[in-house]
Amino acid sequence: MSIKKLIEVALPLDKINEACAREKSIRHGHPSTLHLWWARRPLAAARAVIWASLVDDPSSHPELFPTEEAQHAERERLFGILEKLVVWENSNNQDVLKAAKEEILKYNHGEFPTLLDPFAGGGAIPLEAQRLGLKAIAHDLNPVAVMINKAMIEIPPRFAGKAPVNPEARAALLDTEWSGAKGLAEDVRYYGEWMKQKAYEKIGYLYPKVQLPPEEGGGEATVIAWIWARTVKCPNPACGCEMPLASSFVLSKKKGKEAWVEPIPDGDKVKFKVRQGKCPKEFESYNVGRAAVFKCPVCGEITKDEYVKAKGMAHEIGNQLMAIVAQRKHERIYLSPTEQQACAANINPPEDYPSAPMPDNPRWFSPPAFGMTDYCNLFTAVYSF
Ligand SMILES: C[S@@+](CC[C@H](N)C(=O)[O-])C[C@H]1O[C@@H](n2cnc3c(N)ncnc32)[C@H](O)[C@@H]1O
Ligand SMILES: [Zn+2]
Repeated sequence: MSIKKLIEVALPLDKINEACAREKSIRHGHPSTLHLWWARRPLAAARAVIWASLVDDPSSHPELFPTEEAQHAERERLFGILEKLVVWENSNNQDVLKAAKEEILKYNHGEFPTLLDPFAGGGAIPLEAQRLGLKAIAHDLNPVAVMINKAMIEIPPRFAGKAPVNPEARAALLDTEWSGAKGLAEDVRYYGEWMKQKAYEKIGYLYPKVQLPPEEGGGEATVIAWIWARTVKCPNPACGCEMPLASSFVLSKKKGKEAWVEPIPDGDKVKFKVRQGKCPKEFESYNVGRAAVFKCPVCGEITKDEYVKAKGMAHEIGNQLMAIVAQRKHERIYLSPTEQQACAANINPPEDYPSAPMPDNPRWFSPPAFGMTDYCNLFTAVYSF
């Protein structure tokens, strides 16, 4: 008789789906915060699939479970283990993991098999295999994915139970017990901070702090993003303003924290003023249909795709700062552009910036059609091609 694994017969899908959905809202301590990866699978699903692929379905063992009732009862017991196993809070619960591991050993001749994931991506599958006691081997074509897997699966076990090596921890915390990855985490924190300081010393002057207006409490804040718009001369000869190619003027839709940026005509230019509250409908989306079709906020003229592309090929696309995003404690604040912040982008390009021609297949690479034929044209300081 061929052996059927639990996954081939039945799974408590509702409970697994519920755990997967919940996991999406968990940020603290979740590997997804280590590095962004596309198509990252929920850990709960990976954990459930690995486990249910290694545990036999009770119908495969009539010698142990001779009747349908006995098989059903045993399947329910296995479901009970699985339902606990997929809960995020149980990720490091040793009792739950022990029960799950015992079932794996029972059906694999008392040994944990090795799992190979040739397309490991964000590492959900090898990480969960390791959690279940298996030896995990991860592989991927993409070096970023390889790095994520190294950081998550290969390096922590190598330093498990070891004390940190940084001088501060050595001096201060001699009698601490360093179980699991605690020592490594302490070093990552220490040397991460050290690297941040060194980077700040080298390039911090390029990122000036922003002055907060009195209505925002005054003082200074760190800028976390600058929102720029590309601009072209409005095709309407009677207008001719330098119009922003912005698809929307909404800055934040977060309830109670709504903000938007108002384009205000100012001679042959457009000025931007950040407003708090909900964005009026007319400014919500200015992008009319296809990619390079925009509406002039001064005269209402619609640009044609070919017009913007021709301007780009003639190197007549400009750029203008629309808004500044700053960090205040744990909240974001949106501020109107200032001369000082806009000028912060006027720096000489570094000597060794990456420069290479961009492929010109318009199905995948649109910038060349707008005259941006080199990768470096995508970056502010070397944008003026
Ligand atoms: C859907 S993702 C895997 C997601 C992963 N299970 C997770 O949870 O994050 C597919 C992965 O396969 C990798 N890949 C595609 N073709 C490959 C190849 N020929 N050899 C190795 N890896 C490949 C991609 O780089 C990508 O990371
Ligand atoms: Zn116009």
